[in-house]
Amino acid sequence: MRVTCSKCDKVFNIPDERLPMGKEIAFPCPNCKGIIELDLRSKAIHGNASEFEENMKTDYLTGEALKNKILRKVMDLPPMPQTVLKARDIMANPKSDFKQLADLFETDQAIAAKILKLANSPYYGLGGKVSSIQHASVVLGHKTLGELITMGGTSSLLGEKLEGYGLDAGALWKHSLAVAFGSRIIAQKKEPSLTNDAFTSGLIHDAGKLILDPYITERWELFEEFMSGGQKTFLEAEKEILELDHSEVAAEVCKTWNIPKPLTIAIRYHHHPSRSQGSKLAYIVHVADALAMMTGLGLGIDGTLYQMDEDALEILGIQRVEINDMMGDILNAAKKISES
Ligand SMILES: [Fe+2]
Ligand SMILES: [Fe+2]
Repeated sequence: MRVTCSKCDKVFNIPDERLPMGKEIAFPCPNCKGIIELDLRSKAIHGNASEFEENMKTDYLTGEALKNKILRKVMDLPPMPQTVLKARDIMANPKSDFKQLADLFETDQAIAAKILKLANSPYYGLGGKVSSIQHASVVLGHKTLGELITMGGTSSLLGEKLEGYGLDAGALWKHSLAVAFGSRIIAQKKEPSLTNDAFTSGLIHDAGKLILDPYITERWELFEEFMSGGQKTFLEAEKEILELDHSEVAAEVCKTWNIPKPLTIAIRYHHHPSRSQGSKLAYIVHVADALAMMTGLGLGIDGTLYQMDEDALEILGIQRVEINDMMGDILNAAKKISES
């Protein structure tokens, strides 16, 4: 039987034979330790589990109530680590010196360790010799250090397993890296002034999936039914069944993470850049997302039927002959950086 914790929304599959049918029970949620109460009185001993599941379905929230609950959940997402936000401020201030950055990372060794691990990945080709944040800044430069800090601050969160999306642990992280590097590659070639913003937007573009995943798992049958004709996209299913798709939710996440507006717009419209009122950044993330899907990186259940905007390549001035090289570069970057 599928049981959902009403406190943390985690879904568990409990074998029917372990449930005392015909009784009321309560037990602590293995995830959040909140109490899960089950009323099994309507189920006869050895009764029909699917009948009970049918009854449970009627308790699902729908419409505005569901939408509001999902939006409230955004507030529960761990905040972008303060260290990342402070580091961004320090780096954006031309008067700041490196000592401030070094002092900041003294207080957050966990992120510092992740940054060093990433800096020592085969992608940067330094052979594991980067020993401190200052060293990373000297040998890789200020801009790359900024990217490493953003990656270090989001890797755990984006590395989670997403059951509803069919993504194993680490798969969304790999996809996010592919889109971050892809966005950077496209921006460097076509809109160099957007390079830094492209990287950050690409990295967190799918953060809305972290919020929607348990609701998809809970309503999996509805998703299957909606998608069964083979014509509808997973994004359309999210909107139809959950009232919000993951790009809308990601834009809410951006607000709570204090992400600048141009990046939030790009993330909000990464599936439909033509609705962004001309955000080149939205087109860049969109094309990088499509190319990452084509390389097969982090391809979850929603990778099928991915619709690329037909004007996107022309708007960014990308020739079809450039695409193969871009895909090769994306694959290479994502592979090497994730080897850390
Ligand atoms: Fe997406
Ligand atoms: Fe994506």
